[in-house]
Amino acid sequence: MQKCVLVGVSSSIAAYKSVQLVSDLLKKGYDVEVMMTENATKFVTPLTFSSLTKHKTVYEMFEDDIDYDIKHISLAKKADVLIIAPATANVIAKLANGIADDFLTTTVLASKAPKIIAPAMNTNMYENEITKANLAKLKEMGFIIIEPEYGLLACKDEGKGKLANISTLIEVIESTLVKDKYLKGKKVIVTAGPTKEAIDPVRFITNHSSGKMGYAIARAAYALGAEVTLVSGEVDLDKPYGVNMVQVKSAKEMFEAMKELYADSDYVIMAAAVADYRPLEYACGKIKKNSSSLELKLTKTDDILAYLGQHKTHQKLCGFAMETDDLLENAKHKFDIKNCDLLIANDLSEEGAGFKHDTNAVYIISAQEVKKMPLMAKSDLAYLILKALYEVK
Ligand code: CTP
Repeated sequence: MQKCVLVGVSSSIAAYKSVQLVSDLLKKGYDVEVMMTENATKFVTPLTFSSLTKHKTVYEMFEDDIDYDIKHISLAKKADVLIIAPATANVIAKLANGIADDFLTTTVLASKAPKIIAPAMNTNMYENEITKANLAKLKEMGFIIIEPEYGLLACKDEGKGKLANISTLIEVIESTLVKDKYLKGKKVIVTAGPTKEAIDPVRFITNHSSGKMGYAIARAAYALGAEVTLVSGEVDLDKPYGVNMVQVKSAKEMFEAMKELYADSDYVIMAAAVADYRPLEYACGKIKKNSSSLELKLTKTDDILAYLGQHKTHQKLCGFAMETDDLLENAKHKFDIKNCDLLIANDLSEEGAGFKHDTNAVYIISAQEVKKMPLMAKSDLAYLILKALYEVK
């Protein structure tokens, strides 16, 4: 069923960013309702939001033409999640003290939906003890607070107070909408991206991995309630919200990180495309093009997944297999020799699957069965992989 996101807009200059938030949520298929404080309508018109959402944007408490359901109650009930973005110091103060003197604050008070607050204001206002205490109180009461970012503010001050990125707001909204937190209390480690094996100070060997599948799994695991660590090679992706990051470059660095984290983990998903070989010798100076050919001697890297399989105590281990030929045969072999609980096999020759794409088509292999999954968004597949790993006997 289509989920309803209720966006509350209060009067910060960052109100213009809520238009993008609403637009992006609509593109993702949500039913979006918008309510504003009266002052916020001085920054952005209600018509802007109504044109996008196809719903009336409400900001007045006592309108003549209001429909006969009581709007602040019906909206409060309709919302699956409620986000105030931007939230001013004033609105935060009112909410923390139960003041309901306009449409927005009344609706928040009347709603039982999960509530997210994304503050945006001048640094001094944000760092004021009163605001801090109000936010702490709201957090204590179950509100989710998305901290503002550091940067140059509209008032020309530099500091903390910028509304968090729209992509972060959406990540938090989506993770809040996931109700069944079956990974709560579990520690999940995900590896993602390529490794880079240095040849000399300017060159390296790598592969085409974008990291998208691993990052999607890390996001999904967080949404399912897990404490997530993402061990990532160098990729061009935003850091997932709420996830501990460990940045690595080479296979060796990834191996070291995994050895340290492994004992204290419950689920491990090796989605990284780890280099199988690295240069035998690293040239400290840049290799010059003095000769017509260059021979590079490579040596095998450690197989991290195989090591984890050998040293398994209680962990559930999920590997990946990238194949261009004999997909299932090779994948099942990897499943066995690396002592996996689950293996996700990618057919790189399949249209829309594998590196770079936002979609993937895979087989999910367990000891009991081989399941072919249709082409789907990596963000959806991430949930199916975690569920399958969770259900492994
Ligand atoms: N892997 C690993 N350490 C390596 C190489 C691979 O942990 N040095 C992991 C990958 O993260 C993946 C799985 O092993 O989860 C399979 O990786 P893949 O590249 O498909 O296979 P390889 O084992 O490297 O074998 P081959 O390259 O011969 O197919």
